Amino acid sequence: MTDRYAVIGRPISHTKSPLIHGLYAEATGQDIAYGAIEGSLDHFADDVRGFRDEGGRGMNITAPFKMQAFELADSRSARATLAKASNCLKFENGKIFAENYDGIGLLRDIQSNLKTPLAGRRLLILGAGGAVRGAILPFLEAGPAQVVVVNRDVTKAQALAIEVNNPLLTVLGYDDLAGQTFDVVVNATSASLMGECPPIHGDVFKDVQLAYELAYGKGLTPFLRLARESGVKAIADGVGMLVEQAAEAFEWWRGVRPDTRPVIDRLTVPLV
Ligand code: ATR
Repeated sequence: MTDRYAVIGRPISHTKSPLIHGLYAEATGQDIAYGAIEGSLDHFADDVRGFRDEGGRGMNITAPFKMQAFELADSRSARATLAKASNCLKFENGKIFAENYDGIGLLRDIQSNLKTPLAGRRLLILGAGGAVRGAILPFLEAGPAQVVVVNRDVTKAQALAIEVNNPLLTVLGYDDLAGQTFDVVVNATSASLMGECPPIHGDVFKDVQLAYELAYGKGLTPFLRLARESGVKAIADGVGMLVEQAAEAFEWWRGVRPDTRPVIDRLTVPLV
């Protein structure tokens, strides 16, 4: 029997998840159907339970429902708990299990696809919102020399640091970045969605080998342009992260790991 999955978000028309999971199913011979659901702002939990009650086996969750998905779950992973958000649910034995694969997907893209191991490296993360909450534990587990989180609202970053409680993690304001050097910079703010650049100076890219933009499909964002103009050789957007988090979800649901390379190649848009 065909097992059903879906991504839920609002809006949802832009989603690439049905394409990605369709390609994974084809490549691995899994008999699944994967759809897209526009969730209702007032009845998100009903939408999820309704899908499950009609035989759904799991869901991907995208904006603005990741926190609600986390809250309605019966059981949550440590990653989802720190993020207070879930991007992936599994329905099993009448229970809802919540995961958060965004951070692992990002790490896999940086370390495996972009061949930039983070062990011993100095890492700068811009932002302290949901995206950073989802990524911070996998980043720290990669064994970096230092992780600096910088945010306009420094108190938000400080609150995250207190929760994470790891000596490798330092919190700064944008004004404190002068004179600091890094190996990898990740823009995990939502600035690019509004065509804006976080308030960083090009000097911060002096030693940077990789500048990574979490947003995808936006071409050369102001952040990536600044990085390139400041001499960074490797720049990347979040398409690989999207494909990798989907692979994590697929493996969690189906027990088989799909090959991500062909899907990344298919979805990658040149950064111009
Ligand atoms: P997400 O789930 O995408 O992380 P979020 O939780 O709303 O979204 O967080 C947005 C993040 O982008 C925040 O860190 C925000 O900074 P503040 O907390 O200081 O507001 C950051 N952000 C948004 N626009 C920005 C901009 N133009 N420059 C710098 N940071 C920005």
